[in-house]
Amino acid sequence: MFISFEGIDGCGKSTHARLLKERIEAAGKEVVLTHEPGGGGKIGESIRNTILLEEMKSADPLAEVFLFCADRVHHVRKVVKPALDGGKTVISDRFFDSTIVYQGCGRGVDFEFVERAARMSALGVEPDLTFFLDAPVEVCAGRLEGRQAVNRMDKEAEDFYKRLRKGFLSEAKKHPARIQVVDASGEIEETAGKIGAIADEKIGTGGGD
Ligand code: TYD
Repeated sequence: MFISFEGIDGCGKSTHARLLKERIEAAGKEVVLTHEPGGGGKIGESIRNTILLEEMKSADPLAEVFLFCADRVHHVRKVVKPALDGGKTVISDRFFDSTIVYQGCGRGVDFEFVERAARMSALGVEPDLTFFLDAPVEVCAGRLEGRQAVNRMDKEAEDFYKRLRKGFLSEAKKHPARIQVVDASGEIEETAGKIGAIADEKIGTGGGD
């Protein structure tokens, strides 16, 4: 079982990915929690550091597409596939929908090309279930303000985030069986309850199974 979490910066993905990991483990399953960009060990970290360089701000967005995709190829080969092959549940904090939406909808790189590159970089792996944590841009921005480590990609303009939110919602419409839109504008417990209920229904974390 492969689960991904998606959403704009400050939506709470990382927290909820961790909470879902705990919930699935409590149901007796082994879980690997990973993330993009940078989840694939040293090479991944090094690609992530390149992506987050201030100098990348002025780079062509097409270069970002290739960096995120290179990161994913490595991450899938090194971490995601081996864990899935070993019968584990994998939770990834971001996966190919982030490239489709950030680079395709946010940065305006040719959408069909980005979609194809993003999917190709996953080497045939597709999440069984994706949680898109949705909250208004203002709410997410407010949460980022309270955070200490803010990187260059967290400091984007409001209309960039609005395009991203629209992009994620549009992807969810295109893939309703895979992508679950969860309202993440409330308190952590409230959102965790919603995610837990979906997980119980879709993957049997409520006991049994
Ligand atoms: P990171 O610090 O990992 O952010 P977060 O904790 O919000 O996931 O930085 C990753 C940034 O890269 C984040 O702003 C989202 C962006 N991103 C893309 O633009 N394309 C992608 O394919 C991925 C995976 C991330």
